[in-house]
Amino acid sequence: HLLSHILRHKHIRYGFLWPTLCRHGIRCLSQLAELPELHQMMRQTCRDYAQKELAPIAAQLDKDHKFPAKQVQELGAMGVMAVEVPESLGGLSRGCASTGVIVSVNNSLYLGPILKFGTEEQKKQWITPFTTGEKVGCFALSEPGNGSDAGAASTLAHQEGDEWVLNGTKAWITNCWDASATVVFATTDKSLKHKGISAFLVPMPHPGLSLGKKEDKLGIRASSTANIILEDCRIPLGNMLGDRGMGFKIAMQTLDSGRLGIAAQALGIAQAALDCAADYAHKRTAFGAPIGKLQAIQFKLADMALAIESARLLTWRAAMLRDAKKPFTKEAAMAKLGASEAATFVSHQAIQVLGGMGYVTDMPAERHYRDARITEIYEGTSEIQRLVIANKILKEYQQ
Ligand SMILES: Cc1cc2nc3c(=O)[nH]c(=O)nc-3n(C[C@H](O)[C@H](O)[C@H](O)COP(=O)(O)OP(=O)(O)OC[C@H]3O[C@@H](n4cnc5c(N)ncnc54)[C@H](O)[C@@H]3O)c2cc1C
Ligand SMILES: *[C@@H]1O[C@H](CO)[C@@H](O)[C@H](O)[C@H]1NC(C)=O
Ligand SMILES: *[C@@H]1O[C@H](CO)[C@@H](O)[C@H](O)[C@H]1NC(C)=O
Ligand SMILES: *[C@@H]1O[C@H](CO)[C@@H](O)[C@H](O)[C@H]1NC(C)=O
Repeated sequence: HLLSHILRHKHIRYGFLWPTLCRHGIRCLSQLAELPELHQMMRQTCRDYAQKELAPIAAQLDKDHKFPAKQVQELGAMGVMAVEVPESLGGLSRGCASTGVIVSVNNSLYLGPILKFGTEEQKKQWITPFTTGEKVGCFALSEPGNGSDAGAASTLAHQEGDEWVLNGTKAWITNCWDASATVVFATTDKSLKHKGISAFLVPMPHPGLSLGKKEDKLGIRASSTANIILEDCRIPLGNMLGDRGMGFKIAMQTLDSGRLGIAAQALGIAQAALDCAADYAHKRTAFGAPIGKLQAIQFKLADMALAIESARLLTWRAAMLRDAKKPFTKEAAMAKLGASEAATFVSHQAIQVLGGMGYVTDMPAERHYRDARITEIYEGTSEIQRLVIANKILKEYQQ
Protein backbone atom coordinates (compact mmCIF):
# COMPACT_ATOMS: atom_id res chain seq x y z
CA HIS A 1 0.00 0.00 0.00
CA LEU A 2 2.72 2.37 1.00
CA LEU A 3 4.73 1.68 -2.11
CA SER A 4 1.78 2.19 -4.42
CA HIS A 5 1.12 5.43 -2.60
CA ILE A 6 4.70 6.47 -3.24
CA LEU A 7 4.52 5.43 -6.85
CA ARG A 8 1.37 7.50 -7.35
CA HIS A 9 2.97 10.52 -5.72
CA LYS A 10 6.36 10.56 -7.29
CA HIS A 11 6.56 14.28 -6.79
CA ILE A 12 6.81 13.76 -3.05
CA ARG A 13 10.37 14.29 -1.96
CA TYR A 14 11.69 11.03 -0.68
CA GLY A 15 13.09 12.69 2.43
CA PHE A 16 9.69 13.56 3.70
CA LEU A 17 8.63 9.94 3.54
CA TRP A 18 10.87 8.84 6.32
CA PRO A 19 8.48 9.47 9.19
CA THR A 20 5.83 7.48 7.33
CA LEU A 21 8.19 4.67 6.62
CA CYS A 22 9.26 4.52 10.20
CA ARG A 23 5.67 4.30 11.34
CA HIS A 24 5.27 1.33 9.05
CA GLY A 25 8.29 -0.27 10.62
CA ILE A 26 10.10 -0.33 7.31
CA ARG A 27 13.34 0.78 8.81
CA CYS A 28 13.41 -2.28 11.05
CA LEU A 29 14.99 -4.12 8.17
CA SER A 30 14.18 -7.68 8.97
CA GLN A 31 17.11 -9.17 7.15
CA LEU A 32 20.36 -7.86 5.87
CA ALA A 33 20.17 -9.93 2.73
CA GLU A 34 18.26 -7.30 0.79
CA LEU A 35 17.29 -3.73 1.30
CA PRO A 36 13.57 -3.11 1.66
CA GLU A 37 11.81 -2.28 -1.58
CA LEU A 38 11.69 1.45 -1.02
CA HIS A 39 15.42 1.63 -0.34
CA GLN A 40 15.98 -0.44 -3.44
CA MET A 41 13.91 1.99 -5.48
CA MET A 42 15.82 4.95 -4.12
CA ARG A 43 19.11 3.27 -4.77
CA GLN A 44 18.02 2.37 -8.28
CA THR A 45 17.00 5.98 -8.93
CA CYS A 46 20.44 7.18 -7.87
CA ARG A 47 22.19 4.42 -9.76
CA ASP A 48 20.27 5.16 -12.95
CA TYR A 49 21.06 8.83 -12.65
CA ALA A 50 24.71 8.07 -11.93
CA GLN A 51 24.96 5.78 -14.92
CA LYS A 52 23.15 8.03 -17.38
CA GLU A 53 24.27 11.46 -16.25
CA LEU A 54 27.42 11.15 -14.16
CA ALA A 55 29.52 8.27 -15.46
CA PRO A 56 29.78 9.72 -18.99
CA ILE A 57 31.09 13.08 -17.76
CA ALA A 58 33.08 12.02 -14.69
CA ALA A 59 36.40 11.79 -16.54
CA GLN A 60 35.99 15.27 -18.04
CA LEU A 61 34.96 16.78 -14.68
CA ASP A 62 38.05 15.21 -13.15
CA LYS A 63 40.27 16.59 -15.90
CA ASP A 64 38.84 20.11 -15.73
CA HIS A 65 38.36 20.29 -11.92
CA LYS A 66 34.86 21.34 -12.83
CA PHE A 67 32.07 21.62 -10.27
CA PRO A 68 29.09 19.71 -11.71
CA ALA A 69 26.67 22.59 -11.15
CA LYS A 70 23.93 21.36 -13.49
CA GLN A 71 24.00 17.83 -12.10
CA VAL A 72 24.04 19.01 -8.52
CA GLN A 73 21.01 21.15 -9.27
CA GLU A 74 19.22 18.22 -10.90
CA LEU A 75 19.97 16.02 -7.91
CA GLY A 76 18.64 18.76 -5.67
CA ALA A 77 15.45 18.87 -7.73
CA MET A 78 15.16 15.08 -7.47
CA GLY A 79 15.19 15.46 -3.71
CA VAL A 80 18.32 13.37 -3.28
CA MET A 81 19.92 16.04 -1.18
CA ALA A 82 17.17 15.99 1.37
CA VAL A 83 17.48 12.26 1.79
CA GLU A 84 19.56 11.23 4.72
CA VAL A 85 20.06 7.76 3.40
CA PRO A 86 23.69 7.05 2.81
CA GLU A 87 23.20 4.07 0.53
CA SER A 88 21.97 6.43 -2.11
CA LEU A 89 25.30 8.19 -2.09
CA GLY A 90 27.02 4.95 -2.95
CA GLY A 91 24.76 4.91 -5.99
CA LEU A 92 26.03 8.33 -7.01
CA SER A 93 29.68 7.61 -6.32
CA ARG A 94 29.48 4.61 -8.61
CA GLY A 95 29.05 7.17 -11.37
CA CYS A 96 31.18 10.04 -10.03
CA ALA A 97 32.88 10.15 -6.63
CA SER A 98 33.24 13.94 -6.75
CA THR A 99 29.49 14.38 -7.06
CA GLY A 100 29.11 11.82 -4.28
CA VAL A 101 31.15 13.87 -1.83
CA ILE A 102 29.54 17.17 -2.84
CA VAL A 103 26.18 15.66 -1.95
CA SER A 104 27.46 13.93 1.16
CA VAL A 105 29.01 17.07 2.62
CA ASN A 106 25.91 19.12 1.87
CA ASN A 107 23.65 16.46 3.30
CA SER A 108 25.50 15.11 6.33
CA LEU A 109 27.92 17.85 7.32
CA TYR A 110 25.99 21.03 6.53
CA LEU A 111 22.31 20.10 6.73
CA GLY A 112 22.76 17.40 9.39
CA PRO A 113 23.95 19.54 12.33
CA ILE A 114 21.44 22.32 11.57
CA LEU A 115 18.57 19.82 11.54
CA LYS A 116 19.77 18.29 14.76
CA PHE A 117 20.95 21.30 16.75
CA GLY A 118 19.32 24.31 15.05
CA THR A 119 16.44 26.31 16.44
CA GLU A 120 13.25 26.49 14.35
CA GLU A 121 14.29 29.95 13.24
CA GLN A 122 17.76 28.77 12.20
CA LYS A 123 16.26 25.88 10.26
CA LYS A 124 14.04 28.32 8.37
CA GLN A 125 16.94 30.60 7.60
CA TRP A 126 19.63 28.05 6.79
CA ILE A 127 17.76 25.09 5.34
CA THR A 128 14.61 26.34 3.64
CA PRO A 129 16.35 28.59 1.07
CA PHE A 130 18.50 25.63 0.16
CA THR A 131 15.62 23.53 -1.09
CA THR A 132 15.87 24.79 -4.65
CA GLY A 133 18.82 22.48 -5.16
CA GLU A 134 21.05 25.28 -6.39
CA LYS A 135 22.84 25.91 -3.14
CA VAL A 136 25.30 23.79 -1.22
CA GLY A 137 26.74 24.18 2.22
CA CYS A 138 30.05 23.25 3.79
CA PHE A 139 31.57 22.26 7.12
CA ALA A 140 34.67 24.00 8.45
CA LEU A 141 36.38 22.13 11.26
CA SER A 142 39.98 21.38 10.22
CA GLU A 143 42.74 24.00 10.40
CA PRO A 144 46.16 24.07 8.75
CA GLY A 145 47.75 23.15 12.07
CA ASN A 146 45.25 20.55 13.28
CA GLY A 147 43.09 17.97 11.51
CA SER A 148 42.90 14.71 13.44
CA ASP A 149 43.24 16.71 16.63
CA ALA A 150 40.13 18.76 15.91
CA GLY A 151 39.80 19.73 19.55
CA ALA A 152 42.88 21.90 19.04
CA ALA A 153 41.03 24.13 16.57
CA SER A 154 42.14 27.67 17.35
CA THR A 155 40.02 29.93 15.18
CA LEU A 156 38.74 32.56 17.59
CA ALA A 157 35.20 33.75 18.19
CA HIS A 158 34.83 36.73 20.42
CA GLN A 159 31.74 38.67 21.29
CA GLU A 160 31.56 42.35 20.42
CA GLY A 161 28.21 43.94 21.22
CA ASP A 162 25.52 41.99 19.43
CA GLU A 163 27.97 40.24 17.12
CA TRP A 164 30.43 37.37 17.04
CA VAL A 165 33.75 38.23 15.45
CA LEU A 166 35.56 35.27 13.88
CA ASN A 167 39.31 35.21 13.27
CA GLY A 168 41.35 32.32 11.94
CA THR A 169 41.90 29.93 9.05
CA LYS A 170 39.93 26.75 8.37
CA ALA A 171 41.60 24.26 6.05
CA TRP A 172 40.56 21.70 3.42
CA ILE A 173 36.96 22.81 3.21
CA THR A 174 35.02 20.72 0.70
CA ASN A 175 32.49 22.64 -1.46
CA CYS A 176 33.71 26.02 -0.21
CA TRP A 177 34.21 27.60 -3.63
CA ASP A 178 30.65 26.68 -4.52
CA ALA A 179 28.92 27.12 -1.18
CA SER A 180 26.31 29.58 0.03
CA ALA A 181 26.86 28.95 3.73
CA THR A 182 29.12 27.14 6.14
CA VAL A 183 29.11 25.74 9.63
CA VAL A 184 32.32 27.05 11.23
CA PHE A 185 33.89 25.73 14.42
CA ALA A 186 35.69 28.33 16.54
CA THR A 187 36.74 28.69 20.14
CA THR A 188 35.50 31.32 22.53
CA ASP A 189 38.11 30.31 25.10
CA LYS A 190 41.29 28.50 24.09
CA SER A 191 42.13 27.57 27.68
CA LEU A 192 39.04 25.34 27.77
CA LYS A 193 40.52 23.28 24.86
CA HIS A 194 37.79 21.32 23.04
CA LYS A 195 35.18 22.49 25.53
CA GLY A 196 35.75 26.06 24.38
CA ILE A 197 34.65 25.30 20.82
CA SER A 198 31.27 26.43 19.48
CA ALA A 199 29.60 26.09 16.08
CA PHE A 200 28.59 29.13 14.02
CA LEU A 201 26.55 29.67 10.87
CA VAL A 202 28.14 31.98 8.33
CA PRO A 203 26.64 32.97 4.98
CA MET A 204 28.88 32.91 1.92
CA PRO A 205 30.09 35.21 0.55
CA HIS A 206 30.36 37.44 3.60
CA PRO A 207 32.58 40.39 4.60
CA GLY A 208 35.66 39.17 6.42
CA LEU A 209 35.41 35.70 4.85
CA SER A 210 37.69 34.86 1.94
CA LEU A 211 38.75 31.69 0.18
CA GLY A 212 42.21 30.31 -0.40
CA LYS A 213 43.31 28.81 -3.71
CA LYS A 214 41.64 25.60 -4.81
CA GLU A 215 43.76 22.64 -3.79
CA ASP A 216 45.12 20.60 -6.72
CA LYS A 217 44.08 17.14 -5.58
CA LEU A 218 44.92 13.54 -6.46
CA GLY A 219 41.25 12.63 -6.75
CA ILE A 220 37.68 13.88 -6.34
CA ARG A 221 38.89 16.76 -8.46
CA ALA A 222 35.46 18.05 -9.44
CA SER A 223 34.75 18.97 -5.82
CA SER A 224 36.37 22.15 -4.57
CA THR A 225 38.66 22.12 -1.53
CA ALA A 226 40.25 25.27 -0.10
CA ASN A 227 40.99 27.29 2.99
CA ILE A 228 38.35 29.57 4.46
CA ILE A 229 40.06 32.64 5.89
CA LEU A 230 38.21 34.61 8.55
CA GLU A 231 39.45 38.10 9.33
CA ASP A 232 37.20 40.15 11.56
CA CYS A 233 34.27 38.21 10.15
CA ARG A 234 31.16 39.55 11.92
CA ILE A 235 27.96 37.58 12.33
CA PRO A 236 24.89 38.12 14.52
CA LEU A 237 24.89 36.50 17.98
CA GLY A 238 21.94 34.39 16.84
CA ASN A 239 24.19 32.54 14.39
CA MET A 240 25.61 30.28 17.08
CA LEU A 241 24.43 26.72 16.45
CA GLY A 242 23.65 24.88 19.67
CA ASP A 243 24.90 26.16 22.98
CA ARG A 244 28.18 27.83 23.73
CA GLY A 245 30.91 25.21 24.18
CA MET A 246 28.89 22.52 22.42
CA GLY A 247 30.81 22.77 19.15
CA PHE A 248 33.10 19.78 19.60
CA LYS A 249 30.17 17.55 20.47
CA ILE A 250 28.25 18.82 17.44
CA ALA A 251 31.27 18.16 15.23
CA MET A 252 31.78 14.61 16.52
CA GLN A 253 28.10 13.68 16.25
CA THR A 254 27.96 15.17 12.78
CA LEU A 255 30.97 13.13 11.72
CA ASP A 256 29.35 9.92 12.96
CA SER A 257 26.70 10.41 10.29
CA GLY A 258 29.13 11.87 7.77
CA ARG A 259 31.20 8.70 7.99
CA LEU A 260 28.24 6.71 6.73
CA GLY A 261 28.23 8.98 3.69
CA ILE A 262 31.95 8.41 3.14
CA ALA A 263 31.52 4.65 3.62
CA ALA A 264 28.83 4.79 0.94
CA GLN A 265 31.06 6.89 -1.29
CA ALA A 266 33.86 4.34 -0.89
CA LEU A 267 31.43 1.54 -1.72
CA GLY A 268 30.35 3.33 -4.87
CA ILE A 269 33.96 3.78 -5.97
CA ALA A 270 34.80 0.14 -5.19
CA GLN A 271 31.74 -1.12 -7.03
CA ALA A 272 32.56 0.99 -10.08
CA ALA A 273 36.10 -0.43 -10.07
CA LEU A 274 34.76 -3.99 -9.94
CA ASP A 275 32.23 -3.21 -12.70
CA CYS A 276 35.09 -2.05 -14.86
CA ALA A 277 37.36 -5.02 -14.08
CA ALA A 278 34.72 -7.74 -14.44
CA ASP A 279 33.56 -6.34 -17.75
CA TYR A 280 37.13 -6.15 -19.02
CA ALA A 281 37.81 -9.73 -17.93
CA HIS A 282 35.20 -10.87 -20.46
CA LYS A 283 36.47 -8.71 -23.29
CA ARG A 284 40.23 -8.91 -23.07
CA THR A 285 41.88 -11.92 -24.62
CA ALA A 286 45.33 -13.20 -23.71
CA PHE A 287 46.92 -16.50 -24.69
CA GLY A 288 43.91 -17.23 -26.88
CA ALA A 289 41.18 -16.88 -24.24
CA PRO A 290 39.39 -14.17 -22.28
CA ILE A 291 41.43 -13.31 -19.19
CA GLY A 292 38.30 -14.06 -17.12
CA LYS A 293 39.10 -17.74 -17.76
CA LEU A 294 42.37 -17.38 -15.85
CA GLN A 295 42.14 -18.42 -12.24
CA ALA A 296 44.52 -15.62 -11.25
CA ILE A 297 41.99 -13.09 -12.54
CA GLN A 298 39.03 -14.99 -11.06
CA PHE A 299 40.63 -14.92 -7.63
CA LYS A 300 41.09 -11.18 -7.87
CA LEU A 301 37.45 -10.68 -8.83
CA ALA A 302 36.35 -12.92 -5.95
CA ASP A 303 38.45 -11.04 -3.40
CA MET A 304 37.23 -7.71 -4.72
CA ALA A 305 33.59 -8.77 -4.51
CA LEU A 306 34.16 -10.15 -1.01
CA ALA A 307 35.65 -6.88 0.20
CA ILE A 308 32.77 -4.93 -1.31
CA GLU A 309 30.02 -7.11 0.16
CA SER A 310 31.65 -7.03 3.61
CA ALA A 311 31.86 -3.27 3.47
CA ARG A 312 28.31 -3.01 2.21
CA LEU A 313 26.94 -5.01 5.12
CA LEU A 314 28.90 -2.91 7.61
CA THR A 315 27.55 0.23 6.01
CA TRP A 316 23.95 -0.94 5.95
CA ARG A 317 24.15 -2.11 9.53
CA ALA A 318 25.53 1.20 10.78
CA ALA A 319 22.88 3.08 8.77
CA MET A 320 20.12 0.89 10.22
CA LEU A 321 21.31 1.49 13.77
CA ARG A 322 21.29 5.21 13.08
CA ASP A 323 17.79 5.06 11.63
CA ALA A 324 16.67 3.09 14.67
CA LYS A 325 18.11 5.86 16.86
CA LYS A 326 20.53 3.43 18.49
CA PRO A 327 24.20 4.19 19.20
CA PHE A 328 26.18 3.80 15.97
CA THR A 329 29.50 5.59 16.53
CA LYS A 330 31.55 2.38 16.56
CA GLU A 331 29.65 0.86 13.67
CA ALA A 332 29.98 4.02 11.56
CA ALA A 333 33.73 4.06 12.20
CA MET A 334 33.91 0.37 11.22
CA ALA A 335 31.89 0.99 8.08
CA LYS A 336 34.03 3.95 7.08
CA LEU A 337 37.27 2.10 7.81
CA GLY A 338 36.18 -1.13 6.12
CA ALA A 339 34.69 0.54 3.07
CA SER A 340 37.57 2.94 2.49
CA GLU A 341 40.15 0.16 2.75
CA ALA A 342 37.97 -1.97 0.46
CA ALA A 343 37.88 0.90 -2.04
CA THR A 344 41.66 1.31 -2.14
CA PHE A 345 42.16 -2.46 -2.37
CA VAL A 346 39.53 -3.02 -5.04
CA SER A 347 40.56 -0.07 -7.20
CA HIS A 348 44.18 -1.21 -6.94
CA GLN A 349 43.22 -4.70 -8.09
CA ALA A 350 41.03 -3.33 -10.87
CA ILE A 351 44.04 -1.61 -12.41
CA GLN A 352 45.90 -4.92 -12.26
CA VAL A 353 43.09 -6.73 -14.09
CA LEU A 354 43.16 -4.08 -16.82
CA GLY A 355 46.94 -4.18 -17.22
CA GLY A 356 48.21 -1.21 -19.23
CA MET A 357 44.66 0.00 -19.85
CA GLY A 358 44.29 0.37 -16.10
CA TYR A 359 46.98 3.01 -16.07
CA VAL A 360 45.62 5.46 -18.64
CA THR A 361 42.69 7.82 -18.60
CA ASP A 362 40.97 6.07 -21.52
CA MET A 363 39.45 3.81 -18.89
CA PRO A 364 38.01 4.91 -15.52
CA ALA A 365 40.11 2.50 -13.40
CA GLU A 366 42.90 5.00 -12.71
CA ARG A 367 40.33 7.60 -11.58
CA HIS A 368 38.70 5.14 -9.21
CA TYR A 369 42.13 4.45 -7.74
CA ARG A 370 42.77 8.17 -7.23
CA ASP A 371 39.27 8.84 -5.93
CA ALA A 372 39.40 5.93 -3.49
CA ARG A 373 42.43 7.25 -1.64
CA ILE A 374 40.74 10.21 0.01
CA THR A 375 38.15 8.01 1.71
CA GLU A 376 40.92 6.79 4.04
CA ILE A 377 41.74 10.36 5.02
CA TYR A 378 38.80 12.72 5.40
CA GLU A 379 36.16 12.66 8.10
CA GLY A 380 38.76 10.96 10.24
CA THR A 381 41.77 9.01 8.95
CA SER A 382 41.84 5.20 9.18
CA GLU A 383 44.04 5.58 12.26
CA ILE A 384 41.41 7.77 13.91
CA GLN A 385 38.64 5.27 13.02
CA ARG A 386 40.69 2.55 14.73
CA LEU A 387 41.04 4.74 17.81
CA VAL A 388 37.27 5.31 17.88
CA ILE A 389 36.56 1.59 17.54
CA ALA A 390 39.13 0.54 20.14
CA ASN A 391 37.91 3.17 22.56
CA LYS A 392 34.34 1.82 22.32
CA ILE A 393 35.50 -1.79 22.69
CA LEU A 394 37.57 -1.03 25.76
CA LYS A 395 34.58 0.74 27.28
CA GLU A 396 32.34 -2.24 26.56
CA TYR A 397 34.75 -4.49 28.49
CA GLN A 398 35.34 -2.14 31.38
CA GLN A 399 34.44 -3.72 34.72
C1 LIG B 1 40.15 16.55 -0.06
C2 LIG B 1 39.92 16.86 1.37
C3 LIG B 1 38.69 17.33 1.79
C4 LIG B 1 38.47 17.66 3.13
N1 LIG B 1 37.28 18.20 3.49
C5 LIG B 1 37.14 18.71 4.75
C6 LIG B 1 35.98 19.47 5.10
O1 LIG B 1 35.05 19.65 4.31
N2 LIG B 1 35.92 20.00 6.35
C7 LIG B 1 36.91 19.83 7.26
O2 LIG B 1 36.79 20.34 8.36
N3 LIG B 1 38.02 19.09 6.95
C8 LIG B 1 38.16 18.55 5.72
N4 LIG B 1 39.29 17.83 5.39
C9 LIG B 1 40.34 17.65 6.39
C10 LIG B 1 40.50 16.22 6.82
O3 LIG B 1 39.41 15.84 7.63
C11 LIG B 1 41.86 16.06 7.50
O4 LIG B 1 42.83 16.15 6.51
C12 LIG B 1 41.99 14.78 8.26
O5 LIG B 1 41.13 14.76 9.37
C13 LIG B 1 43.41 14.52 8.74
O6 LIG B 1 43.95 15.64 9.37
P1 LIG B 1 45.39 16.21 8.94
O7 LIG B 1 45.39 16.34 7.47
O8 LIG B 1 45.65 17.40 9.76
O9 LIG B 1 46.39 15.06 9.29
P2 LIG B 1 47.11 14.87 10.71
O10 LIG B 1 46.13 14.96 11.81
O11 LIG B 1 48.29 15.75 10.75
O12 LIG B 1 47.58 13.36 10.58
C14 LIG B 1 48.78 12.95 9.91
C15 LIG B 1 48.96 11.45 10.14
O13 LIG B 1 49.07 11.18 11.56
C16 LIG B 1 48.08 10.26 11.95
N5 LIG B 1 47.62 10.58 13.30
C17 LIG B 1 47.26 11.78 13.80
N6 LIG B 1 46.86 11.68 15.06
C18 LIG B 1 46.94 10.36 15.38
C19 LIG B 1 46.67 9.61 16.56
N7 LIG B 1 46.22 10.19 17.65
N8 LIG B 1 46.90 8.27 16.51
C20 LIG B 1 47.35 7.69 15.38
N9 LIG B 1 47.63 8.33 14.26
C21 LIG B 1 47.42 9.66 14.24
C22 LIG B 1 46.97 10.43 10.94
O14 LIG B 1 46.12 9.29 10.89
C23 LIG B 1 47.76 10.62 9.67
O15 LIG B 1 48.18 9.38 9.19
C24 LIG B 1 39.51 17.45 4.06
C25 LIG B 1 40.73 16.95 3.65
C26 LIG B 1 40.96 16.67 2.32
C27 LIG B 1 42.31 16.18 1.91
C1 LIG C 1 21.76 20.89 0.04
O1 LIG C 1 20.89 20.52 1.08
C2 LIG C 1 19.69 21.23 1.08
C3 LIG C 1 18.95 20.90 2.31
O2 LIG C 1 18.45 19.61 2.28
C4 LIG C 1 18.90 20.85 -0.17
O3 LIG C 1 17.67 21.50 -0.17
C5 LIG C 1 19.70 21.29 -1.36
O4 LIG C 1 19.04 20.88 -2.53
C6 LIG C 1 21.09 20.69 -1.29
N1 LIG C 1 21.91 21.26 -2.31
C7 LIG C 1 22.12 20.67 -3.43
C8 LIG C 1 22.98 21.36 -4.40
O5 LIG C 1 21.66 19.60 -3.67
C1 LIG D 1 45.75 24.64 15.47
O1 LIG D 1 46.24 25.10 14.22
C2 LIG D 1 46.45 26.50 14.12
C3 LIG D 1 46.97 26.81 12.73
O2 LIG D 1 46.06 26.42 11.80
C4 LIG D 1 47.46 26.96 15.15
O3 LIG D 1 47.57 28.35 15.11
C5 LIG D 1 47.01 26.51 16.52
O4 LIG D 1 47.99 26.82 17.47
C6 LIG D 1 46.72 25.02 16.56
N1 LIG D 1 46.17 24.69 17.85
C7 LIG D 1 46.86 24.05 18.78
C8 LIG D 1 46.20 23.87 20.11
O5 LIG D 1 47.95 23.59 18.56
C1 LIG E 1 41.00 39.70 14.27
O1 LIG E 1 41.81 39.99 13.15
C2 LIG E 1 41.90 41.36 12.83
C3 LIG E 1 42.70 41.52 11.56
O2 LIG E 1 42.79 40.37 10.85
C4 LIG E 1 42.50 42.12 13.97
O3 LIG E 1 42.51 43.50 13.66
C5 LIG E 1 41.70 41.88 15.22
O4 LIG E 1 42.33 42.48 16.33
C6 LIG E 1 41.55 40.38 15.50
N1 LIG E 1 40.70 40.20 16.64
C7 LIG E 1 40.99 39.35 17.61
C8 LIG E 1 40.06 39.29 18.75
O5 LIG E 1 41.98 38.60 17.56
